[in-house]
Amino acid sequence: MDYQWVFAEITRAIRPVLAGGRTADYIPALAQTDPKHFGFAVADLTSHVQGTGDWEIPFSIQSVSKVFTLALVLAADGDRLWTLVGKEPSGAPFNSLYHLQRSGGIPRNPFVNAGALIITDRLQTLTGDASGTLRDFLRTETDNPDIDFDARIAESEQRHGHRNAALAHLLADYGRLDNPVDTVLDHYTRQCSLTMSCRDLVLAASFLARHGLRASHSRLLNRSEAKRINAVMLVGGTYDTAGDFAHRVGLPAKSGVGGGIIAVIPGRCILAAWGPAIDRYGNSLAGVTALDVFTTHTGLSIF
Ligand code: DON
Repeated sequence: MDYQWVFAEITRAIRPVLAGGRTADYIPALAQTDPKHFGFAVADLTSHVQGTGDWEIPFSIQSVSKVFTLALVLAADGDRLWTLVGKEPSGAPFNSLYHLQRSGGIPRNPFVNAGALIITDRLQTLTGDASGTLRDFLRTETDNPDIDFDARIAESEQRHGHRNAALAHLLADYGRLDNPVDTVLDHYTRQCSLTMSCRDLVLAASFLARHGLRASHSRLLNRSEAKRINAVMLVGGTYDTAGDFAHRVGLPAKSGVGGGIIAVIPGRCILAAWGPAIDRYGNSLAGVTALDVFTTHTGLSIF
């Protein structure tokens, strides 16, 4: 399918949105990104990619990384993983301490920061190098050896990451981490600092559209595990606005405060959008608009 016609619709629709919004400023190095960037890409099941705008420019993937660490841990641990983290909507901001305390240290889902810290901790235990394992996986899936950490962004987040440190200490207090707090935080901020383009993201995440098969067509996840990731993305991938997102777009998705967002049409394709200005929930304003336009004009959604 040729998507150029829908790319033209998207480009028209996001123009007014690009004028508003703000980049994430609680990670100071991220605030310096030009909010006028916009990229969009689609990969089909054969890894054929089409894109528009800044679709080949790398950016900080932030929480989009949480989908990949989740997949790597699920591949090793299977359903046991769901005893460590929940599968419920966030019901609160992604970095909320309150929910973690109320649940006695079981995060709502693997995409809130507390849940992602547990997944990174588990990946560290399984591999001895959580962020390095993730980087290697992404390089292999995309055939792009340039995918790497952005040390400046990781350091900026570490220096200002009091909330994540508080979450990690709380998790440690509940006995939920195997590794030292500093090790977990270090790997977590590095995984968030990975820079990838929309092109890279659609290739790396295409196992979610292929029901668990990697780019090489070897199996990463079984069909039911891939379904479970997509299901949790639908209910929690865009945090406290997942209902509105499902209403507008109708696809499982995962956002990051770097302005990236990926969405899955199982059995068909993967989409990625990037627009650095985000809403108060941490989702790209232009990215959500673009995905809304895509599903509305093509009629392709899971509903
Ligand atoms: O931990 C943080 O706050 C960031 N490194 C990632 C948060 C994020 O991307 C939330 N997503 N929309």
